[in-house]
Amino acid sequence: MILTVKDVSVLYDGKPALEHVSFEVPERQITAIIGPSGCGKSTMLRCLNGLIREENGVRFSGEICLEGREIGSYPPDELRRRVGLVFQTPAPFPFSIYKNMAYAARYFGLREKGKLDKIIREKLELAGLYEEVKDEMNKSALKLSGGQQQRLCIARALTVEPDVLLLDEPCSALDVKSSAIIEKLLLELKQRYTIVIVTHNLAQARRISDRAVFLYNGRLVEQGVTEALFQDPQEEETKDFLGGVFG
Ligand SMILES: Nc1ncnc2c1ncn2[C@@H]1O[C@H](COP(=O)(O)OP(=O)(O)OP(=O)(O)O)[C@@H](O)[C@H]1O
Ligand SMILES: [Mg+2]
Repeated sequence: MILTVKDVSVLYDGKPALEHVSFEVPERQITAIIGPSGCGKSTMLRCLNGLIREENGVRFSGEICLEGREIGSYPPDELRRRVGLVFQTPAPFPFSIYKNMAYAARYFGLREKGKLDKIIREKLELAGLYEEVKDEMNKSALKLSGGQQQRLCIARALTVEPDVLLLDEPCSALDVKSSAIIEKLLLELKQRYTIVIVTHNLAQARRISDRAVFLYNGRLVEQGVTEALFQDPQEEETKDFLGGVFG
């Protein structure tokens, strides 16, 4: 297990957002976090890359281990490198495609242009974006379409070779065609990276994830192999949620 979440609770200004959540994330699989709005999905992702512990007014308890080591004991830069986060709304930096792609690698000390260009090309290819942008690398990233911007953000996250890629509703601002491209991309990426995706699209979770974790009101209600969880949920709350009773 690359990530182990043990008894994690989060309070925002004294109000619980997660309560005693425990689950494990296997390497090179896609784990989907599902559940109705406000159940704590984004909070859980921010726990996984340590971001939550830096927020004001937040009380975190529990343990999260990356490859057996508590994430709090990693230097923050290293943790951020190893666990990348891609947000719901594509958020490229307001400069060129090239500079977006070069930013993190340069920050981590890569100075050699030949090496940098090689990484940029490789990751853009991996994200299926290279052919679309190779002749306009100096164009502002903000001029790309929404789907292209989201693929750029994923490619950018990969430039520092993370172990784990966290994605918070990466398709919710995209049309069906762009979402399908991202889904295909994630299925390819899982051969090399571990992926945790938050999605409110249950069909999407079922199509692409290996395991699913169902959160409800800040509690983990049920988790397991995706197909088993969808076909034969054990808990009433899971049945209701999957059946569209709420959420
Ligand atoms: N920074 C914050 N400060 C205070 N409360 C917060 C903060 N972030 C989230 N919350 C609260 O914590 C709970 C869980 O929020 P979270 O964003 O994790 O839910 P979510 O499952 O991602 O919802 P959605 O599907 O709508 O994105 C909600 O009640 C929310 O209002
Ligand atoms: Mg959210």
